[in-house]
Amino acid sequence: DKGNHRHFMEKEIYEQPEVISHALSHYVDLGAHTIKQTGHDIDFAKLRGLAISACGTAYLAGLIGKYWFERYARLPVEIDVASEFRYREMPLSTDQAAFFISQSGETADTLASLRYCKEAGLKIGAIVNVRESTIAREADAMFPILAGPEIGVASTKAFTCQLAVLASLAIEAGKARGHIDAAQEKTMVRHLAELPRIMSAVANLIQPQIENLSRELSKFKDVLYLGRGTSFPLALEGALKLKEISYIHAEGYAAGELKHGPIALIDENMPVIVIAPHDRFFEKTVSNMQEVAARGGRIIFITDENGAAASKLETMATIILPNVDEILSPMVFSLPIQLLAYHTAVFMGTDVDQPRNLAKSVTVE
Ligand code: F6R
Repeated sequence: DKGNHRHFMEKEIYEQPEVISHALSHYVDLGAHTIKQTGHDIDFAKLRGLAISACGTAYLAGLIGKYWFERYARLPVEIDVASEFRYREMPLSTDQAAFFISQSGETADTLASLRYCKEAGLKIGAIVNVRESTIAREADAMFPILAGPEIGVASTKAFTCQLAVLASLAIEAGKARGHIDAAQEKTMVRHLAELPRIMSAVANLIQPQIENLSRELSKFKDVLYLGRGTSFPLALEGALKLKEISYIHAEGYAAGELKHGPIALIDENMPVIVIAPHDRFFEKTVSNMQEVAARGGRIIFITDENGAAASKLETMATIILPNVDEILSPMVFSLPIQLLAYHTAVFMGTDVDQPRNLAKSVTVE
């Protein structure tokens, strides 16, 4: 049932505040602002490293998770798409754990990677939506994302719930490994607790502007997304979401890679979507934006209030989100990314919930 939404994808985008709140309440105590013990037997304190493997959007959630585990828990993370992971013959050791992220829990490549790591004797964690799935059943520790059924082929609420779970696990790991003390834990969990309210406000705030902008965007054939830090995987996710439902060619790049190749493509026919909260990378990303502007590129700037105040560049559009703590920005900045892809596809008249050639669950390799 789509309720009063035109597509499941739209419904699932707007459901995010509610399902993220479910997901969070499983992993954190929203009153005491502490991490909950969920009873799994992954001993973060003893791990030498973590291997993460997944496909598509779930892989991009894992990539953001890597930034968090390394930064907050000083836990080295190896991550790859599942179809490469299992053939790389990477050295694995039993003092690593392996995490697999999958909405459906049935993705063939992800399952094969899981079995490969199990064979190698690693402890297996599964971050899944479908709790009865094969990946969930074969794991030693199952971490549900509690997003509820996701019908739209393009993943939206599963992505942000995966992020909420990964953020909670990174804080748990940081605590276990002695890099996050009780006061920091409280502060971080307090920020997470605000996420549902912030996302609900942001979705309503930006909707009209995004819809107008999408009409413009639907006229282009190519779009480039740029970001740094955790906004880099988000740039990849933005490009993936746009291409899969609108069929507009889109690519995501780390902003710093611009001058190593893609800058050759810049002209007025390829809008550049820059995802840049006012974080410690902001100045660097703005200088990449200047390089785009100097070559006649059109910029769609997705930033926050502080970022908008700090940049004087002329843009095709600037989408201004509230200032939020950095651990929240991947989830909050997912909203403009998802809504932009959604409305652009609606203007193009594509089958948003069932894009051509794609299946919700990919059970062949
Ligand atoms: C993109 C998308 C796909 C899936 C990928 C993995 O919007 O939905 O990229 O994320 O096929 O699927 P799961 O998470 O079921 O393993």
